[in-house]
Amino acid sequence: MLYDRHVSWDEALSHRYDEWAAEMTADIPFYVGLALEADGPLVELAVGNGRVAIPVARATGRPVIGLDSSPAMLEQARERAAAAGVELELHLADMRELRLDEPAALVYCPFRALLHLPAWADRRLVFERVAASLRPGGRFAWNAFAFDHRTATRLDGAHEVHPVPHTVRHAVGSNRIDIVLDDGATSSLWWATRNEWLGLVDVAGLEVEALYGGFAREPFGDESREYVFVARR
Ligand SMILES: C[S@@+](CC[C@H](N)C(=O)[O-])C[C@H]1O[C@@H](n2cnc3c(N)ncnc32)[C@H](O)[C@@H]1O
Repeated sequence: MLYDRHVSWDEALSHRYDEWAAEMTADIPFYVGLALEADGPLVELAVGNGRVAIPVARATGRPVIGLDSSPAMLEQARERAAAAGVELELHLADMRELRLDEPAALVYCPFRALLHLPAWADRRLVFERVAASLRPGGRFAWNAFAFDHRTATRLDGAHEVHPVPHTVRHAVGSNRIDIVLDDGATSSLWWATRNEWLGLVDVAGLEVEALYGGFAREPFGDESREYVFVARR
């Protein structure tokens, strides 16, 4: 398998994550809504610091199983869950190796985290593991940005101070963006097209239940800049 030599998530980013994600709040009611409809175990892939898992656990009164490959992010999730008085079952694990004791009613992956996987084959592994981990009728939900050449032109190489001082660099030939904080910490994302997502759903034997263009469940259209997918086993 061909892996990109870039590391997708630098541990050094974890200490700025709260600030980085401070304005990303619109997704929380969306994922909470799906969790409230799910009758069975809830799983977040790439749970990070529990930004979404904690409100999900609070709203449902149920634990959320969260896995992440970053020890530093999991440590934050542990502390935040304890402070919030909710139960998260946290695992240091790569989402490509998802294994559950009991099939899930909902697996979800917010904030574009599937884009940290460099190759289509990596995502295929995740989709296959998710399909094998869901109950019949169980749902898999995720969101990812839709690549926009106009946004790329505006942002490429430009230094931004908000929300944390950083520069975004596009490696178009590798469909990758590198978000480089001023202190050097880097997060890389490999963007995917609508057909790639549909192909992943297909090879995993899942069905698309909905493709929204945003978290208010607006229809996905040519001007949409976010894929918000709900698939079903
Ligand atoms: C943008 S954060 C999202 C965190 C959280 N889901 C949220 O919505 O705030 C991306 C997370 O993906 C995790 N991650 C990256 N690659 C991963 C992998 N292969 N398996 C599991 N977690 C991964 C990183 O450690 C980081 O915590």
